[in-house]
Amino acid sequence: MQSLIVSGGKKLQGEVPLQGAKNSALPIMAAAYLCEGECILHNCPKLTDIYAASRILNYIGKKCCFSGNTVIISRENCGGSCRNCIPENYTQEMRSSIIFLGALLGKHKSCVMSYPGGCELGPRPIDMHLTGLRKMGVDIREEHGHIICNVPKCIHGAKISLNFPSVGTTENIMIAAVLAEGETIINNAAREPEICDLADFLRSCGAKIKGDGESRIIIQGVEKLCGCEYTIMPDRIAGATYLAAVAGTGGEIVLQNACISHIEPFLSYLEQTGCSIYTPDNDKIFLRSGAKLKAIKNCVRTMPHPGFPTDAQAILMAALAKSDGVTVFEENIFGCRYRHIDALMKLGADIRTSGKTAVINGVPQLYGATVEATDLRSGAAMVIAALMAEGDSEITEICHIDRGYEDIEFYFQKLGADIKRV
Ligand code: UD1
Repeated sequence: MQSLIVSGGKKLQGEVPLQGAKNSALPIMAAAYLCEGECILHNCPKLTDIYAASRILNYIGKKCCFSGNTVIISRENCGGSCRNCIPENYTQEMRSSIIFLGALLGKHKSCVMSYPGGCELGPRPIDMHLTGLRKMGVDIREEHGHIICNVPKCIHGAKISLNFPSVGTTENIMIAAVLAEGETIINNAAREPEICDLADFLRSCGAKIKGDGESRIIIQGVEKLCGCEYTIMPDRIAGATYLAAVAGTGGEIVLQNACISHIEPFLSYLEQTGCSIYTPDNDKIFLRSGAKLKAIKNCVRTMPHPGFPTDAQAILMAALAKSDGVTVFEENIFGCRYRHIDALMKLGADIRTSGKTAVINGVPQLYGATVEATDLRSGAAMVIAALMAEGDSEITEICHIDRGYEDIEFYFQKLGADIKRV
């Protein structure tokens, strides 16, 4: 089992390029299942979740090869023996394996899939995914941990109004709808940048999609999708992580290959902490941290995009652990997303929680400790706090961190951090 050993207390400084977005690459890889030709995806991050998605693709009948940060997804790898089922050992590997449901249904008229594994962020229901697909003509039964789908006639367009702008549901319906008969309208669709990246990829393959990035997405089904060459967008949450770490340690960073508009909801909060931020080019963010971060006056409320992202909540909280005053957070997306707090407190932070509210009172110093990563972004928050702390820390269970950060220690070493993997 691997750990990260961090010797904290150094100001981070330097220039790093941003990795490709995990949360774009995963649905795009699932959507590539529908393409008749070869898909070449550039800027694909090398992450355990991406490898899990490639194993699913290989299992259900595509050949998926890596060459650096390029993934080539080619025609069926096994002479017509495409499978329409994904067994439990594959779905358990990656929480977001549910995203393959739309792709399997788009290709086959029936499929069986095991439920994704239990989630660290609290219950992760898939009711909206299933309701949307049912509206498109899919019969779905849930039996003994399996989702069993049949399409008696055809997958057809439908008007689907989501109760909540769920990212995964919007993606699943988009993927199922591109080859459906007729028009699908998704109302109250998620507006996250990853939705636009998926739509851009699908359009490059011949799909007809309008309205992505807005609350109403309209998809006109087409007969087939071809392959394409596509570059995955930069990872806004990895970007937020490096910016927050530099802000918390009082340093300076130039973040390259970023997309400023995607990261804007996060930047506006970092600016309130007293950091100077310049965006001289479209894809470069320069941040210089003040000696001590200021607490944020307004409550930091996680909201669907373009609000403050839930994935950046733990990260910003860690950066504020030594701030000058009190910041209040409200987590509105997931029911169990404060699992980093015990670890931050072990490192010396002063945080109180009540329901979905957390109140962080800046302390003068954090101190090294051994902490266990409990989920992806919690793990990242622990790395940030360890970098800000005096003394040595060990972060265990870093398999969670490796799901979303490509060589995290390498990027932090480039910024001058004393961090190693053991
Ligand atoms: C995606 C991201 C995740 C991010 C989240 C919110 C990926 C791989 N993951 O997750 O990093 O934190 O968006 O921005 O892209 N819900 C239901 N029923 C459903 C579906 C969702 O109740 O059928 C609820 C969820 O429990 C959660 C909320 O809706 O409380 C938002 O979930 P959703 O937007 O679907 O998140 P994911 O797509 O799972």
